[in-house]
Amino acid sequence: MENMMKAVVYKGRGEVALEDRPMPVIQNDTDVVVKVTLASICSSDLHIKHGSVPRAKENTVLGHEFVGIITEAGTGVRKFKVGDRVSVNVETFCGECYFCKRGYVNNCIHGGWELGCRIDGGQAEYARVPMADQALTLIPDDVTDEAALFNGDILATGYWAAQVADLKPADTVVVLGAGPTGMCTLMSIKLYSPAKVIVVDVSEERLQLAKEQGLADVVLNAKEGNVEEEILKLTDGRGADRVFEVAGTMGTFETAWKVARPNAIVVVVALYEEPVSIPLNLMYGKNLTFVTGGVDANSCDEIMLMVQSGKIDTSCLITHKRPLNEVIEGYHIFENKLDGVIKWVITPYER
Ligand SMILES: NC(=O)c1ccc[n+]([C@@H]2O[C@H](COP(=O)([O-])OP(=O)(O)OC[C@H]3O[C@@H](n4cnc5c(N)ncnc54)[C@H](O)[C@@H]3O)[C@@H](O)[C@H]2O)c1
Ligand SMILES: [Zn+2]
Ligand SMILES: [Zn+2]
Repeated sequence: MENMMKAVVYKGRGEVALEDRPMPVIQNDTDVVVKVTLASICSSDLHIKHGSVPRAKENTVLGHEFVGIITEAGTGVRKFKVGDRVSVNVETFCGECYFCKRGYVNNCIHGGWELGCRIDGGQAEYARVPMADQALTLIPDDVTDEAALFNGDILATGYWAAQVADLKPADTVVVLGAGPTGMCTLMSIKLYSPAKVIVVDVSEERLQLAKEQGLADVVLNAKEGNVEEEILKLTDGRGADRVFEVAGTMGTFETAWKVARPNAIVVVVALYEEPVSIPLNLMYGKNLTFVTGGVDANSCDEIMLMVQSGKIDTSCLITHKRPLNEVIEGYHIFENKLDGVIKWVITPYER
């Protein structure tokens, strides 16, 4: 079928399918079309699948973390040209509105998280990327697609989280969740060299990975002990200076504020599938600062430099790399955390 391609489509609550879809075309002069060379499945795709992302639209092609080669560029695209290898930002933003000018690109009045959520994304053979001058990052020749793949989403998220946490060298930091986003958060935290990093997960495998990668000084398995007590012991009874909530399961928000010391900063990266309560009555006097996101993915050029210089290396996260043909199996494995999966990476469809 000419002018058709394979793509992963969100069919409504609980269902994704690999379907034939028309090839994307330029719609606005600031668009490009990208031939996708690598894409990933993200836990946020699962949140869409579960119907817990209110902004997501049915029948949208999923995928908001991908790299590729520009095959068509609108006449208004200034910074990129056909043939460029690029990584794509999870957020679509204009760069000029009230929010963009202040760096809050997640709340751009013309965009935000659009790709793979409200407009067709990158779990496909081709994708249209709007507002390309803001949405793309050039991949240097000495950076592989694999190394650049997470630039626009989970790495942007980890980098943002570390930035907004206002880390100090003597800090004791707790990261709840050593999934792919937690690992990217840890890699970004390492750039600030805080004194002690405590990583909490329920997966021994993931905790060991964090340790092996030199990202954790102490690992705690939440299934095996009382995390709150352990962290108080490790911090002279005070609690941690900075806490990152990157687990997103029931109860981890509560752990996050409980293990924080008075006047700590708690960064909530996780996207919850159910309402979470903030019991201000119990927190009274702790004087906590909470930062929540929606990553503002506006540092992708900086992140690419860190990747190029070897200061950030996400290669340990790629556990599975299979063609688009096998993506539905990929969703099953990724969703159920089978086969030691951390990141399921999608290579182009094989005919
Ligand atoms: N804010 C953003 O813009 C943004 C961007 C990307 C991802 N996210 C969100 O971040 C969260 C994490 O994403 P991920 O890709 O790493 O997903 P993930 O599901 O792989 O990671 C969650 C981790 O938490 C662990 N966990 C489960 N229960 C726990 C507990 N009680 N204590 C500690 N850890 C526990 C899991 O074993 C897993 O390793 C998701 O909610 C995702 O949607 C947010
Ligand atoms: Zn994502
Ligand atoms: Zn804007």
